[in-house]
Amino acid sequence: MTGPAQDSWDAARYAAAARFVTDLGAPVLELLDARPGERILDLGCGDGVLTARIAALGARVLGVDSSPDMIAAARARGVEARLADAHALDFCGEFDAVFSNAALHWMTDPDRVFAGVARALVRGGRFVAEAGGHGNVAAIRTALIAVLERHGRITDLGEIWYFPTVAEQRRRLERAGLTVTDIALIPRPTPVTAGMEAWLDTLAGPALALIPEADRPAARAEVVRLVAPALRDSAGNWTADYVRLRFRAVKR
Ligand code: BEZ
Repeated sequence: MTGPAQDSWDAARYAAAARFVTDLGAPVLELLDARPGERILDLGCGDGVLTARIAALGARVLGVDSSPDMIAAARARGVEARLADAHALDFCGEFDAVFSNAALHWMTDPDRVFAGVARALVRGGRFVAEAGGHGNVAAIRTALIAVLERHGRITDLGEIWYFPTVAEQRRRLERAGLTVTDIALIPRPTPVTAGMEAWLDTLAGPALALIPEADRPAARAEVVRLVAPALRDSAGNWTADYVRLRFRAVKR
């Protein structure tokens, strides 16, 4: 799940607060359509839950991630996993498919990532992925931007999260030598049972880290207060405003 913005994931905390990320991975796995014997690279494999599911279909899967803690968790699950920077992949014509779930939005130089993916694939190989798309967690992002601005940090958080439109993602994929066969932006309101504080701590760490440590608890409380009218219902349940960008592209 990780990119250069957050290499220090805590796998146990992630499992407790964000298990929904892999629980909701069925549609992109279906789009991948992994076959027995295929060689598949899981880019940003996190703790390896989906990597193991692909391996169970009979494929030979390698997971890569930039977080040592996530790689340890993936190996403990019995999957082959390796520490790697998605911006500097050094595979060459080794994979029938590259798969990625909930990771590309952490990779803020997508052209380098897609060039590495294209290089890693055999001709005709496919890149199948899902991640945050344009408008993803818009209420949370806007609240974070407002609170950061009060602390003197002017940012649109583009240096942390990459949430492209369909047109932008298609252009980048095609430029990397991949022909897009499927692509869609899919609103997916997502229950956050662990609560908004836990979501922010687990998934917005790099954004909150832009605020001095002493001010962070108050800043986090302010973000929660600002998003509550949009994302918390009358029973106190939180639903995050996720928008997924799911695609399949084939190497020319
Ligand atoms: C996502 O999966 O869409 C996401 C994860 C972390 C931060 C923001 C969005």
